[in-house]
Amino acid sequence: SKQLHKDQLEAHELLAKFYHHLLMNTKEGQHALEYMLQRGFTEDQLKQFRIGWALPSWDFTSELLKKRGFDLSSMEQAGLIIKRDNGSYFDRFRERIMFPVENDRGQIVAFSGRIIDAEKDEPKYLNSPETPLFQKNRILFNYHRARGAIRREQSAVLFEGFADVISSNEWAANGIATMGTSLSAQHISLIKKLTSQVILCYDGDQAGYEAAFKAAKEISSSGLNVKVALLPNGLDPDDYIQKKGGQAFKQEIIDSSVSEMAFKMHYYRSKNNLSTEDGRLSYIKSILKEIASLKGAIDKEFYIKQLSDEFNLSVEGLSNQLGSLMPTEQ
Ligand code: CTP
Ligand code: MN
Ligand code: MN
Ligand code: MN
Ligand code: MN
Repeated sequence: SKQLHKDQLEAHELLAKFYHHLLMNTKEGQHALEYMLQRGFTEDQLKQFRIGWALPSWDFTSELLKKRGFDLSSMEQAGLIIKRDNGSYFDRFRERIMFPVENDRGQIVAFSGRIIDAEKDEPKYLNSPETPLFQKNRILFNYHRARGAIRREQSAVLFEGFADVISSNEWAANGIATMGTSLSAQHISLIKKLTSQVILCYDGDQAGYEAAFKAAKEISSSGLNVKVALLPNGLDPDDYIQKKGGQAFKQEIIDSSVSEMAFKMHYYRSKNNLSTEDGRLSYIKSILKEIASLKGAIDKEFYIKQLSDEFNLSVEGLSNQLGSLMPTEQ
């Protein structure tokens, strides 16, 4: 019911304040604060995104919520605490750097907690479970804050993670994140409300590359324009910014993002060894298939010409081959 959700929203708000205070102002949070500053986050960024610290305690959160009169079974439903077999409660988030996750109205509806020592045998990020307030496939991190910039600039930059959005914020205030690499139809609808242009900026690793390939197709087939930003191997957007700075990120990565077809060419090049005949043939066939799926005749002609130039093949031969790849009309 609405009443339940209201107390759950209040609890998230209250906890975000406590966690943030613990990170910024207390001895208990000092180690976590030093970790964040040493990574390159600024105090301003930590304040703006209300980053916090959850103590290494089993009952700090549950005791606080109890003391403040919250109904603990509602808090359990909100994913903040977990019920033991004996009926008592313990804290879900312990000893983690806390990232509040807001809905499209700016209300905190979930947390994600990062472990400091990622070597530990635990997930690097621990998220709130799916709850009435939080469904991961319906929420984009930073959507609420970025909305104005996305409308103004008529483009959204789509990242994987929290750190990417936060580090780039000064240079790309239109940044939002899927919190992982799974992009849903609802995510795309949220973006569609604001703009028809998406710049995909996933991590420069195999997982990010594969995910970008898939996401680019989904975005463009939903009718949005998509460009893809290419990160150097082994770096994610946050890594890049910490290494080269925000200005370089803006110029070299965001402003240099490429068309979907150019990205697909990169992608298939990385899959095929172009110094062998088999590799070249397989590459050409993959690209022809992609060209066949393009809508516009001019786009088709443009890329056929490009392929013809690159591999010294006749436009006629490629066009014939393309014809055989086109879906047959009913
Ligand atoms: N993620 C998650 N659960 C995990 C790992 C990742 O929910 N166990 C989500 C987080 O939102 C994370 C995003 O997926 O920000 C991207 O994951 P990854 O690239 O591995 O993490 P980074 O964002 O690069 O985190 P960091 O820079 O802190 O290592
Ligand atoms: Mn990643
Ligand atoms: Mn990453
Ligand atoms: Mn990573
Ligand atoms: Mn990272």
